[in-house]
Amino acid sequence: MSLRVFITGAAGFLGSHLADAMLELGHDVLGCDNLIGGYKDNVPEGVEFYEADCTDLKSMQDITRDIDVLYHAAAYPHEGLSVFSPSVINNSIYQATSTVLSAFIQNKGKRFIFLSSMARYGINQTPFTEDMPPKPFDPYALSKVASEDLIGLLSDVFGYEYVIAVPHNIIGPRQKYDDPYRNVAAIFINRMLQGKQPIIYGDGEQKRCFSFIQDCINPLKQLIVKENVHKEVINIGPDDEFITINELAQTTAGLLDFDLDPIYFPERPQEVKEANCSSEKARRLLGYETTYSLKKGLSEMVEWIKSRGPKPFDYYLDLEIINDKTPKTWKEKLM
Ligand SMILES: NC(=O)c1ccc[n+]([C@@H]2O[C@H](COP(=O)([O-])OP(=O)(O)OC[C@H]3O[C@@H](n4cnc5c(N)ncnc54)[C@H](O)[C@@H]3O)[C@@H](O)[C@H]2O)c1
Repeated sequence: MSLRVFITGAAGFLGSHLADAMLELGHDVLGCDNLIGGYKDNVPEGVEFYEADCTDLKSMQDITRDIDVLYHAAAYPHEGLSVFSPSVINNSIYQATSTVLSAFIQNKGKRFIFLSSMARYGINQTPFTEDMPPKPFDPYALSKVASEDLIGLLSDVFGYEYVIAVPHNIIGPRQKYDDPYRNVAAIFINRMLQGKQPIIYGDGEQKRCFSFIQDCINPLKQLIVKENVHKEVINIGPDDEFITINELAQTTAGLLDFDLDPIYFPERPQEVKEANCSSEKARRLLGYETTYSLKKGLSEMVEWIKSRGPKPFDYYLDLEIINDKTPKTWKEKLM
């Protein structure tokens, strides 16, 4: 059965790959983006695309008419920056989610799929499991958790179905790589291709898991029709290859044959030391499997960035709080 699927953030990394997957499945795909954080040429041909801001209620009401399912992927997913620019980041998450949800309900949408973040678990013990109470540790995470709560609360009132998908540290082609505030792997590649050493905050021993985009899309695309996922929180991503940022720099340098000597800067406030999620539930409910090793995923991203060419970093979101706690790399635009 063909559905009308709406994707917010369709020019973004995740949103555009989701759009591809929905088109391949034969659905009618609509999407919007304000084109601030993604790349317009990410939007696949065949998507009914609107340049619109998710905080604009009138636009959202107009363009989400007659939809069945909505993936809400739009956000400025800037966890580190959110400590210094809480206004713009919260607006792009909590305010945008409230607006999109309001339009979705008014237009009688049936299933709302929210792209949350592993940041929701904050200072819990790793590996994070879905039954853990959220312990957000920065404004980005707080906004994601507040959005989740809002989606749950209004579902109880209005009766639509919803799923909270929790991806973490995805890599792959189409990811923004000229953003100085986020996407560590993409930043490393962009800098190394310019002959510049990677910049690492703290001692580089903070640990993360990285997932390749296609490994995330496979479970995510099932959520439009899957039975018995209403109200579920589901981690999307691997729980193997838990590596340090130093190791990420080494693997990236190896792929680029780059003579590595990272530049270390003071750690950023509120950055959790270890973050990885259990994929057990996604394996059980959605048949999640890791098919791309970190090295294979990184090499695909390297090829894509090479094909577009390295780019200067674009400080397109303003720092709201500038003081002695603000990372120098951002204050002085050192990237
Ligand atoms: N990529 C990851 O590693 C990752 C990890 C965890 C969670 N997520 C979540 O997945 C979602 C997508 O992330 P992504 O990596 O694709 O980011 P992205 O920046 O590539 O895509 C987000 C898109 O949303 C658009 N956007 C932002 N605010 C908007 C607004 N108010 N109105 C319209 N469009 C707007 C941006 O222009 C951008 O194209 C986000 O909600 C993010 O929090 C991503």
